Amino acid sequence: MLELRQVYTKYGQIPMLMGVNIKVNPGEAVCMLGANGAGKTTLLKTIIGMVKPVKGEVVFNGQRIDTLPSHKIIPLGIAIVPEREGLFPKLTVETNLLMGAYYENDKKKIALRMEEVLNIFPRLKERFHQKAGTLSGGERKMLGIARALLADPKILLMDEPSLGLAPATVNEVFSVIKRIKEEKKIAILLVEQNAQKALSVAERGYVLQKGSIILEGLKEELQENSIVKESYLSAG
Ligand SMILES: Nc1ncnc2c1ncn2[C@@H]1O[C@H](COP(=O)(O)OP(=O)(O)OP(=O)(O)O)[C@@H](O)[C@H]1O
Ligand SMILES: [Mg+2]
Repeated sequence: MLELRQVYTKYGQIPMLMGVNIKVNPGEAVCMLGANGAGKTTLLKTIIGMVKPVKGEVVFNGQRIDTLPSHKIIPLGIAIVPEREGLFPKLTVETNLLMGAYYENDKKKIALRMEEVLNIFPRLKERFHQKAGTLSGGERKMLGIARALLADPKILLMDEPSLGLAPATVNEVFSVIKRIKEEKKIAILLVEQNAQKALSVAERGYVLQKGSIILEGLKEELQENSIVKESYLSAG
């Protein structure tokens, strides 16, 4: 469904991604583990066209998308929950959610999606008319995920959903991710430093180090791998 083939990116003269090959199949949850500065956010930005590869291809459902601008990529069915949620703090929860459905004109479809999403996130329903800037960190994270779902994506990209949250809130966020995976059957590409949590929802994963994929495998293989254990599971 989504494939990166030999993708290289640069920031100015500095190489970042160096020949990245990854695949996400329909309905599959895949995690991308990596330390600070490994290139995880860059990878997601490359998928949505915010960073252009200098070499290689990004292919989505058989179509090459790295040649397209972001506003043509997103409507194909790719939604992202950015690292810092990217919400509009002065606008209400409702308005922020509706931004997710920006590319949908059918009001009925939007209303249905809204109902479905508020079902998954009852707390957002309670805070529907509250300004996004007044939400707690966990609620903001939920709003970021909920907004992405309003786009009815085929694949959901998530950039470190555990970042900056207390352990109890991290657990809440990950149970929501699990629920989305089970109920909506959409593909998920989850970028995380929290390997324990990421591997609790993913079937498969990759490890990104300094712009290269150094390891890939099934959940169980990664959980047993000594590099993953030492570098990414030690804290958990
Ligand atoms: N716009 C930019 N211009 C120049 N360098 C950049 C730019 N964006 C990112 N970088 C650099 O590229 C490297 C990878 O950044 P990236 O944000 O992809 O890492 P990351 O794996 O997401 O890290 P983190 O876990 O801290 O979010 C970093 O060294 C960063 O400083
Ligand atoms: Mg990042």
